Amino acid sequence: MRGQFITLEGSEGAGKTTNLGFINDYLVNAGLEVLQTREPGGTPLSENIREILLGHEYDGMSPDTELLLVFAARAEHLNNKIIPALEQGVTVLCDRFTDATYAYQGAGRGIPTEKIAILENWVQGTLRPDLTIFLDLPVETGMKRAGERSEPDRFEKEQIEFFERVRQGYLERTRKEPGRYRVVDASVSLEEVRQQLHKVLDEFI
Ligand code: TMP
Repeated sequence: MRGQFITLEGSEGAGKTTNLGFINDYLVNAGLEVLQTREPGGTPLSENIREILLGHEYDGMSPDTELLLVFAARAEHLNNKIIPALEQGVTVLCDRFTDATYAYQGAGRGIPTEKIAILENWVQGTLRPDLTIFLDLPVETGMKRAGERSEPDRFEKEQIEFFERVRQGYLERTRKEPGRYRVVDASVSLEEVRQQLHKVLDEFI
């Protein structure tokens, strides 16, 4: 049987990294074989593309270039890692996926949804995540939390208006396709976030 494909999305400072470990442990404890990976990245070539995307060497990169690089990384990741794992019945837990493209390159950079959908269909065929958890919190709260961390990458350097559009982009998608998404309130304490995640995963499994 094909494995389940679970993706985790979140605004800046939503605690994605911390909570990924929690989700991974939950799935392993439920007896599943889990492959944890991330986008952009997940394979040597895709990790190189990640460096181009997040680094500051190409600060004036055009939105179309950014979009195509994201999907180039994704094609490599899907064909060489995600799809083979799913076919072997492994549960794939991915830190960001195509919803991030609709939110960042779509809502954030202003690329029309239709353009992104063409690439999504081309690169993914009919493959979509089975479950997408969105860790949501107000942009200002997230930026304060993220600001306490290290040197900002090319996305983290954006202004608050960009992140507002990104957040609204995510929320709009969750409203359009409620079956696949679970929105978790990430503005509360870590303990309370985990309780919500526990409930979502209990229901999913
Ligand atoms: P993060 O996974 O550490 O949050 O960093 C990845 C960054 O890349 C994040 O700022 C969002 C951005 N990104 C896109 O702009 N488009 C995408 O499709 C993906 C997967 C990530």
